[in-house]
Formats: sequence, C-alpha cells, structure tokens
Amino acid sequence: MPVKTLINPKVKANLDAAIHAELFAHNLYLHLANQLQRLGYFGAQKFFLGESSSEREHCLRIVGYLNDVGDCAKVPAIEAMSDKVSSLEDAIELAYRTEVTLYRDYVAWHAEDCLELHAHDAEARGIADGDWVGITSRAGETVLRAKISDRMQPGVVYTTFHHPFSGANVITTENSDWATNCPEYKITAVEVARVSQPSEWQQRYRAFSEVQQALLRERRREAEPTR
Ligand SMILES: [Fe+2]
Repeated sequence: MPVKTLINPKVKANLDAAIHAELFAHNLYLHLANQLQRLGYFGAQKFFLGESSSEREHCLRIVGYLNDVGDCAKVPAIEAMSDKVSSLEDAIELAYRTEVTLYRDYVAWHAEDCLELHAHDAEARGIADGDWVGITSRAGETVLRAKISDRMQPGVVYTTFHHPFSGANVITTENSDWATNCPEYKITAVEVARVSQPSEWQQRYRAFSEVQQALLRERRREAEPTR
C-alpha cells in the first residue's frame, strides 16, 4: 500500500517549484560551460561545470526529502537554454541574474530566520515575541528575532539557516560525537538573552553588503547604453 504523504499541499507546491529552479540552474550552468569552452575560457568552463553539478545535487536533496516523507517527487520539463553568450561578462551577468531571481523566490517563502522558543523560556528571560535575542554558544554569537512557539519544548530553541545575515553557522561548532564521528553542525548548546540590536558582526556585514550593492548599482548605471 502506498505511504500517505506527510507534507501539506502548499509545502509540496513550493518544493516542486524548488526542484524546477534547481534543475533550471543545473541546465543553465551546463549551457554556460559549453559556451565558455567555445570561447576558450577553460577555467571558467570548469567552474560552471562544478556549479552545474552542485545545482543537480541540490535538486536531488529536495527529491530525496519528498520521497522520504511519503510523497513521490515529480521531474519537471526544463526549457531549452538558448541565451547567447559572446563574452565572459555575458556568462557572469546571466548567472548572477539567475541567482538573484532564485534567491528572491526563496525569500518570498521565508522572509526572515527567527529564533523559535517556548513561552516558558521567553518569560524567564523577559523576552516578548518579535524582540531581538542574542544567542551565544561556545563558538560565537548572533542575534535573531524571537518567535514564541508551542512547537518548541522548554529548554530547546530552533532556527532556520537561510539568510546570511542571521549567521546560524556562526554559533554551531565543528565537534563530532566520540563514537561515530557524526558532526553536530546542527545542534549546539546555547544561552539566549534579550538584546537591543543585531550583533557587531551582523552590523558590519549589513554595512559591507549595502556598500557592495550600491557599487553594483553604480556600475550597472555606468554600463547602460546612453540614449
Ligand atoms: Fe541550488
């Protein structure tokens, strides 16, 4: 008897769309690698071949997840790649635009990484829903918005690690368990406290990122053909 799926239709639709997006990127980077080989950029060709296989890997992870939760992943048709690439700059511009579009699509599903915690832990630390909370581990610290949730048990907090500004990887350690050497990348002991603003590294990161975006906008304006 087929297994009943464990995910709801909205999540399923998002994951189907993500499979399409990853396969699209896989095909696009293969296309760019072919075009760059034709132009004689062998180093860049190799780079895009590597990117193409990692996009396929991403697709397989989503496929594996869907199948594991009792669904059956659909394999979509991917449109033929036809963008003309006549320089290395064309290839980079196309790849950049695709990455930005995909990132925006993902952000639409999930706008911010929050720290989910139980009402009991929040109350004990004077934390209200939406407050900035500092999370400190043996490895580092970051600051996220609090989301009080009954999905959490007292004593356990949880966050996603989608946005670079959140920096969930800053607090996890490189330790592994002594018996199997299984890494604990996703689990770590932390303390949580109410704070008034993002951490110092996050403020530096945001300022750096804003400067980079402004430079990019300026460069684009300069490159626009004058009418
Ligand atoms: Fe990807």
